[in-house]
Amino acid sequence: MLAIIGGSGLTQLSNMENVRREVARTPFGEPSAALTFGRMCEAPVVFLARHGHGHTIPPHKVNYRANIWALKQAKVEGIVSVASVGSIRADWPPGTLVVPNQIIDYTWGRESSFFDGVDTPVRHVDFTRPYDEALRQRLLCAATVAGDSAFDGGVYAAAQGPRLETAAEIDRFERDGAELVGMTAMPEAVLARELELPYAAINVVVNYAAGRSSSEHGIHFDDIEVVLQESMVRVRAVLECLCRV
Ligand code: HPA
Repeated sequence: MLAIIGGSGLTQLSNMENVRREVARTPFGEPSAALTFGRMCEAPVVFLARHGHGHTIPPHKVNYRANIWALKQAKVEGIVSVASVGSIRADWPPGTLVVPNQIIDYTWGRESSFFDGVDTPVRHVDFTRPYDEALRQRLLCAATVAGDSAFDGGVYAAAQGPRLETAAEIDRFERDGAELVGMTAMPEAVLARELELPYAAINVVVNYAAGRSSSEHGIHFDDIEVVLQESMVRVRAVLECLCRV
C-alpha cells in the first residue's frame, strides 16, 4: 500500500473508493488529519492531508514526526508527496510538474529526527540521495502513462515559511544550486528515511519564485490558486496511473 501526502490544493483524493477514515495516535502526538484508507484503480492507498482537512496547519507547524510515524504504523510500502513549489528556473513556468532528486534544507526549529537522543539513541542516516530512486521512476512513468510529463530531477530548497522569500533569498538559493522552492519537504523526507520508508515527490510549480516573474508587483495569490486548481487535476490523473506502473 502506498501513502500519498497531499499539500495545498490536494486536501482529499476524490478518486478514492471504499473509503475508511482512521484517527491515528503516535508517541509524537496526532498527525495533521485522519488517515484515509481506500482504493485507487484497485490498488490500496492511504491519504493524508499535510495541512489538515481544512488547510489550517502552516508548513512550520505541521507535526511531521506524527505524520510519518502514523504512516509507518499503517504499514505503507512508500510515500508519495504532492507539494506546490515556486520555480527559480525561467524555463519551468507555473504548471510545470517536477519529480525532484535533491534537497537543500534552509528550515530551522522543526522537530527533524526520531533519534533525538532523548528516548532514543543518537543515530545517523545516509541522506546522499534524499528521494527514493525507484519511486521517482514510478512517478515519472505514471506521468507518461497519464499522457502528461514531469521533469526528471530538480534541486528543492526547503524554506521555513510561512512567508514567501525575498528576492535576495531566492538569488542565494539559486547560487546554492536550487531550482525549486517549497516549505515542506524537510523534515518530511528525512523522517521517512529514518523509518526506512521510500519517499518521492511530485512538485507542482504554481508561481515563479520571488523576484523571478516579469510582474513588478510580486507574487499574486489569485494566480497561484488558478494554477493550483488546474494542476491538481493533472496530478490526480498521474496518481491514478501509479498503480499501473
Ligand atoms: N516559495 C516557497 N514555497 C512555495 C512557493 C514559493 O514561492 N510557491 C509554493 N510554495
